[in-house]
Amino acid sequence: MLRVEGLGKDVASGDGMLTILHEIDLAVRSGEAVAVVGASGSGKSTLLGLMAGLDLPTRGRVLLAGQDLAALDEDGRAALRGRELGFVFQSFHLLPALSALENVMLPLELLGAGNGDDPRGVAEAMLARVGLANRLDHYPKHLSGGEQQRVALARAFAVRPRLLLADEPTGNLDAATGRQVIDLMFEMNAEQGTTLILVTHDESLASRCGRAIRLAAGRLQA
Ligand SMILES: Nc1ncnc2c1ncn2[C@@H]1O[C@H](COP(=O)(O)OP(=O)(O)O)[C@@H](O)[C@H]1O
Ligand SMILES: [Mg+2]
Repeated sequence: MLRVEGLGKDVASGDGMLTILHEIDLAVRSGEAVAVVGASGSGKSTLLGLMAGLDLPTRGRVLLAGQDLAALDEDGRAALRGRELGFVFQSFHLLPALSALENVMLPLELLGAGNGDDPRGVAEAMLARVGLANRLDHYPKHLSGGEQQRVALARAFAVRPRLLLADEPTGNLDAATGRQVIDLMFEMNAEQGTTLILVTHDESLASRCGRAIRLAAGRLQA
């Protein structure tokens, strides 16, 4: 599903370059659930962004569903993401000017014709699945954090992505709400047979994944 080869990232910092990821190699098979754990600042979000082609590496390459991301232009990467990937972020990343329903419809509309389904009907069903059938017309600012993250889950799973990337999805939620969101994420993941890469610094959450890879100061730990 995903292969990362010799991946590295440098960023400009003050008077020189700073290496924030060193020579990362890993492969994730279709259907696997993999946790990426490491302290804050260890490079987890950077790695996730590179895996998604949201950012480009300084060295090495990412193959997503067999496609070398660097061989695609920006539009090509966006199209591949739209077809294959779902995202869930710590800070929800809903569009504030769109209702819950419109937020979930958006990726379906971007996919356009070809998937055969009516975006509104699919989005309504997904919001019902996450327990928000009575919040369709609510705007993000009128939803609690847990509700916003459930909308984000509905949006991520609406396109039936092959790969779900989640970056500390419970980081902004209280413990009880976080557990509900995570349970829902694993349930939907199982229902759809999605490959999952979950960034977390919560070891108990990581232990729910099939395996964990560990980052420290931008390096993969053995
Ligand atoms: N664009 C950037 N420019 C400079 N430093 C960055 C940039 N992006 C990330 N970093 C630094 O790289 C390190 C890894 O960041 P990040 O991937 O966000 O870590 P994590 O998600 O594990 O907390 C941090 O020290 C961060 O400050
Ligand atoms: Mg991060």
